[in-house]
Amino acid sequence: MKEKQLFIALEGIDGSGKSTQVKLLSDNLTKAGHKVYSTFEPTDSYIGSIIRSIFTHKMEADHRTIAGLFVADRLDHLLNKSNGILQKLEEGYTVITDRYYFSSYAYHGAHMSLEWVIEANRLSAELLRPDLNIFIDISPEISMNRLKKGRTTIELYETLDNLTIVRNKYLEAFKLLQSVEKIYTTDGNRSPEEIATDIWQAILPLT
Ligand code: ADP
Ligand code: TYD
Repeated sequence: MKEKQLFIALEGIDGSGKSTQVKLLSDNLTKAGHKVYSTFEPTDSYIGSIIRSIFTHKMEADHRTIAGLFVADRLDHLLNKSNGILQKLEEGYTVITDRYYFSSYAYHGAHMSLEWVIEANRLSAELLRPDLNIFIDISPEISMNRLKKGRTTIELYETLDNLTIVRNKYLEAFKLLQSVEKIYTTDGNRSPEEIATDIWQAILPLT
């Protein structure tokens, strides 16, 4: 087993291919000798299920309330005693998460002050910064086409206009935090295999 476990966050707009790349990266890391734990946000905890009810229009909430729910969901994701990320790292796992705090900066920063969102997530950032934030950059038009093909319903944030704003907020947040965060951008408008190879080249120096 590898001694140095990593914490890696996959970021991107809806439909950018994050889940696909989490799987491919997990396979590559496992082959390289890592014990891998893959996870995601919003989580499947009670707080995460409230968030999902809002996204699927079963409940309504203001964007600021949603931003607050994500702060709580993320802290539980980190601190939960049984399956929290910090516990998993302690157990020697390399952890890959499909979304982390940059998702909050991009999705909530699109509707309210980005500075507020960063400040509200400060505790999470202080507890654990990713060894690498990987941004799968894809055109919002392509992602909307993918989402329409694969789904019968469209969730709260999944419109072309919103995803365009969210992509721009990601870029703004990366620029703002470039001195404290490790960020790697990969061109997501390619085949899954090409993207996976690119991501693996970025991870290799860290393993
Ligand atoms: P996300 O987790 O970011 O929403 P997914 O990995 O679920 O994205 O991918 C969304 C859809 O696009 C799925 O149907 C998936 O099979 C497809 N897909 C993923 N990556 C690519 C790619 N590089 N090229 C074309 N289609 C892709
Ligand atoms: P997700 O299940 O990853 O959707 P997808 O696979 O389509 O990318 O995320 C659900 C939604 O949650 C997505 O629209 C982004 C949003 N989100 C936020 O608004 N804030 C956050 O902090 C996170 C982690 C996700």
